[in-house]
Amino acid sequence: MKREYKTIKVKLEEEVAVFTIDSPPVNQMSPQMGQDFRDAVTEAYEDPQVKAIILTGTGKNFIAGADITQLKLVKTREDILPRALESARFLSSIETGPKPMIAAINGNCLGGGLETAMACHYRVAAKGVHLGQPEVQIGLIPGAGGTQRLPRLIGLPNALEMITTGKPVKSEKAYSRGLVDEVVDQENLMEAALNAARRFISGQLNLRIRMTRNANHRLPSAAEKKSLIGFSKVMTAEKAKGYVAPFKAVEALEKGLGFDIDADIEREVELFCDCVLSDVAKNLIGIFLNTRAAGRLPRIKDIQPAKIEKVAMLGGGVMGSGIVNLLLSGGFKTVLWDINDEALQKGVASVRKTFEYPIKKKKMTQEDLEGMIQDLFTTTSLENLKDVDLVIEAVVEDMAVKQEIWKKLEGICGPDTIFATNTSALPITEMASVLKDPGRMIGLHFFNPAHRMQLLEVICAEQTSDQTLATSVAFARAIKKIPIVVNDGPGFYVSRQLGGLMGGAVYLTADGVDGPLIEEAMVDFGMPMGPATLSDLTGIDINYHVSKTFEKRLGDRYKVHPLMERIYQTGCYGRKTGAGYFDYSGEKPVPNQKVVDTVQEYLKEKGVAPKSMSKKELVDAMLALAINEAALMIEEGICDRPQDMDLAMIYGTGFPPYRGGILRYADKWGLKDVYEKLLELEKRYGPRFEPAALIKEMAESGKTFYQDR
Ligand code: NAI
Repeated sequence: MKREYKTIKVKLEEEVAVFTIDSPPVNQMSPQMGQDFRDAVTEAYEDPQVKAIILTGTGKNFIAGADITQLKLVKTREDILPRALESARFLSSIETGPKPMIAAINGNCLGGGLETAMACHYRVAAKGVHLGQPEVQIGLIPGAGGTQRLPRLIGLPNALEMITTGKPVKSEKAYSRGLVDEVVDQENLMEAALNAARRFISGQLNLRIRMTRNANHRLPSAAEKKSLIGFSKVMTAEKAKGYVAPFKAVEALEKGLGFDIDADIEREVELFCDCVLSDVAKNLIGIFLNTRAAGRLPRIKDIQPAKIEKVAMLGGGVMGSGIVNLLLSGGFKTVLWDINDEALQKGVASVRKTFEYPIKKKKMTQEDLEGMIQDLFTTTSLENLKDVDLVIEAVVEDMAVKQEIWKKLEGICGPDTIFATNTSALPITEMASVLKDPGRMIGLHFFNPAHRMQLLEVICAEQTSDQTLATSVAFARAIKKIPIVVNDGPGFYVSRQLGGLMGGAVYLTADGVDGPLIEEAMVDFGMPMGPATLSDLTGIDINYHVSKTFEKRLGDRYKVHPLMERIYQTGCYGRKTGAGYFDYSGEKPVPNQKVVDTVQEYLKEKGVAPKSMSKKELVDAMLALAINEAALMIEEGICDRPQDMDLAMIYGTGFPPYRGGILRYADKWGLKDVYEKLLELEKRYGPRFEPAALIKEMAESGKTFYQDR
């Protein structure tokens, strides 16, 4: 038979054809690979010399999913259904085919990869590799028999978990559950697969019995199925509100697992197509692809990032300790500086605390931690930082203090050392102005808790050099963060955008709308919490000061609302004072009477009657302001990449991923409608809602923020 296809190499060993998939970068399924696979299988079936087939991959991958960029382009059912059916039927034809196929799982076996392996007659996996059906994470379900074969191998409860969460399992666990037949060391993989092939050829293993479709003994009884599916429905409704795929997955399992697996698979394919056609999947696929592309800006395309090996952390407080966790975990030589020994000790204790969770979860051991802490160099002398490649500063939020430190460090560190500040609101351009070389300074704005939050806002000051930016972006990736690059300005991007998203609440409250209803509307929309709850968490005083800064630096549009002034005057600042919008003294938070009275008084004075509004109207008002804020920031040059802006809100503030982000939402809503909504709100609530020139222009020209729809 032919030895070479574009994406598959074939080698004959004894009477076994070994198919090695080699389709960089990750052996994704693609139309070309599908074609090659079909052709190779047909030939192997026709070749009398071939008695069995082994399927394996290359490098770290067996088959790691499918090329999803194509799925984003699908517009109609006809675009996808025939192709999807063909793939599913092809896998069934392998399963019911005349010759045994053994999957030698050398690496990642995900999505379509696992579906292919399950259609094989025997599975040997190398130790430590991942197997899974991660489709729900991008808004899809398995669409080539995965929902029907997986329960036959591992039982319904485990299959439900794997399919509805998308979490992969390692080969050892896969073996204990029955998903693979053997787990061996990587170097013994091919020998084990060959052995299995020999057993088929000699008749020790029976092709018919080994067909996954015939493994019905692991399927639940009708009563068991009903109760498991019932439970899963409740869990899904609770956890996956707004999503589509988890519900479709449960439906595929509920209606499937019958006697006619082919019909069940075809139903699965239909449900898969429902997912592909949903906005949710398009949004999630977009997020997945944009996340990979984050930080890859044209500005730094050709710049080689400098090597970062040794990093100094200034300040071991709330933020510093979390960042030290990242540095130690990332294998960087780390120096922690603080003002005195006591602060240092506190800092190290806080660093230890950040590792409690991974130790509890057995992701690392106490000894690992002790080793790391031993390697952590601590000092109170800036002189000791002379040979570091990067300094990250998270000391008190005080311009003079920070500038003083940077000035000193410029005389100590080498000329290439990057100076990064984690300031939450100070102007970085001004901070850098004390340096002889302001090009070395950048903002690395971590979110609290720094070791958990995925987002890293990278802020370019006016003179930040391209080299500083390129190295910082590469560093962000090295500590496993998603870098979103923006320009300097009050609140940078995320804080100002969040202010825009939640800032409408005070106008609505002052218009007589019930506060808790606004909370409910935003939570229903998908935010992790409403504006008042968030404010209580961050601190009403902090929000007030941030708003005052916006007022000062951004002008009249941002004038602090008189009702906000009064709420601030109550002295109830949120959780830290025991009460803010809510009172936290009891078991459950309840509206804080002091704030309720303040609002009532205000409404009475202004002669405002209570107003009822639908949740949709409330959300429209809140989102219109958010979209407007985004447009203003684009106009001001704070940021210009909608995909990055949306990612920042999703990873930094919990904006619901299934909605794709604020700008994706705006495109879906339609800029003309957004514009009209803003005009209406401006009339009612004043200049804070005045449409940005960009929104007006987009409404008139029919443009969208994204270019891909
Ligand atoms: P923190 O109060 O927990 O820690 C402050 C650190 O500064 C401590 O290590 C302390 O010893 C040190 N320090 C105190 N006085 C100093 C002085 N005179 N000179 C030099 N160092 C001094 O503060 P946190 O929350 O870690 O904030 C640090 C920086 O990170 C601030 O600029 C803050 O705005 C920013 N930030 C804070 C976030 C948060 O959620 N806490 C989020 C993002 C940024």
